[in-house]
Amino acid sequence: MENQLFDFGMIGLGVMGRNLLLNMADHGFPVIGFDKDNQKSAALEAAATPGTTVKGVNTLAEMVSQLKAPRKIMMLVPAGKPVDEVIAELLPLLSQGDIVIDGGNSHYTDTLRRVTYLKEKGLHFMGVGISGGEHGARTGPSIMPGGDPQAYPQVQPILEAVAAKVNGSSCVAHLGKGAAGHYVKMVHNGIEYAIMQLISESYDLMHRGLGLSNDELHKVYRNWNEGELQSFLIDITRDIFLQPDDKTPARLVDMILDKAGSKGTGKWTSQDAMDLGVPVPVIDMAVASRDLSSFKEERIQAAALYKTVPAAIEVAREVFIQQLQDALYFATIICYAQGLAMLHRASSELDMEIPLPEVVRVWRGGCIIRSSLLETFHKAYLENPQLPNLLLDPSIAQLLQSKRQHMRNVIMHATQTGYPVAGLMAALAYFDAYRSDRLPTNLIQAQRDFFGAHTYQRTDMPGSFHTVWQTT
Ligand code: 6PG
Repeated sequence: MENQLFDFGMIGLGVMGRNLLLNMADHGFPVIGFDKDNQKSAALEAAATPGTTVKGVNTLAEMVSQLKAPRKIMMLVPAGKPVDEVIAELLPLLSQGDIVIDGGNSHYTDTLRRVTYLKEKGLHFMGVGISGGEHGARTGPSIMPGGDPQAYPQVQPILEAVAAKVNGSSCVAHLGKGAAGHYVKMVHNGIEYAIMQLISESYDLMHRGLGLSNDELHKVYRNWNEGELQSFLIDITRDIFLQPDDKTPARLVDMILDKAGSKGTGKWTSQDAMDLGVPVPVIDMAVASRDLSSFKEERIQAAALYKTVPAAIEVAREVFIQQLQDALYFATIICYAQGLAMLHRASSELDMEIPLPEVVRVWRGGCIIRSSLLETFHKAYLENPQLPNLLLDPSIAQLLQSKRQHMRNVIMHATQTGYPVAGLMAALAYFDAYRSDRLPTNLIQAQRDFFGAHTYQRTDMPGSFHTVWQTT
């Protein structure tokens, strides 16, 4: 295959890069991959499906010279400096019109900078969010491309072929200008953090609160996954409870230290939401809860100091599990609503033109936050693509109304017994504030004007007012 011209090139043959490239090859595209590590390029060829055209090389020049024009090259390397290093190495080898794609979890401001930089050189740069983990990359991920709309049609057939399919449609779409692809993926990850936090709280309440065994937990999540909570994250949670430990007779989940790691995309979502002035408190709480979990040694001291003993939740098991299912459903809707409200605002504020009906369509399959709820959201956004918040959709309102009493019951039991349910509480507090036509913020405005002459608006007439407040 020495003179073969390849359709697509991949830089970085770690498991994600390799699997995505093999997925493309399986769909009939001749592909070539580069990695400095000889073993990785050899492993790529070894893993190829017989009959497909896959080549692994060890120099960038070798790869670039064998690609069809305009070249389509994706990099799947760690975010940050490595992306800039690859671009620097790649630039002298490219020609006008070539398309460079960053498929990693880069910060969107880096992507914007790179889009501008490559544009000056006559090249297209696309930030593309890819979700689904290593398995998804091989069998069908959810793909979130953004950037130059002129470049997109060149890569569209390949991306549509490899993406996950739901009801015959590919889970990929051009999701906006500039760094929109990476922005959407960042918010996807924020929602991912939030839902994972909520599921972990439900686990705690059933495990420590009700005393359910791993087998019983497996059954509960299995039932939930067969109902309206059906989702990828509930699906894997169900299986986690059955996994044996290969080092002790215990189940693996019980041997895992309760300190959560993170690579930062959830934090970026919270940070950017603050900058935009859009509240996403369940995502904020999920980030904070992972951070708090890392203070293990301090938590051990505090547990001794406050004599923390797991208390039993004194409600009939079946009753509480039903309430918890509804609470999780309620709070999960709030997570998506917060993330999507953020995208709605970012779309105009950051001039990205993000099509929300397409975002939720693309999230229906392949990605970590795929769930049957996305179908409901898709309908809501098709009816009103400019919906500022899912909570304003009448059918979503009906769903939330039907679950909210159970949401309150669960939080009441959790707080009475002392289980930390920061995510669930943040979801309910957001709901209660968002649906209030009157908030106590008038008092905050009075206080600001009192001590800082910051002025306030009145309920009965337009304008800005300041008062010399009386002291007693
Ligand atoms: C995905 C995931 C993935 C992310 C991991 C790890 O959509 O496939 O979001 O992109 O990197 O979930 O994230 P943390 O290490 O920050 O939990």
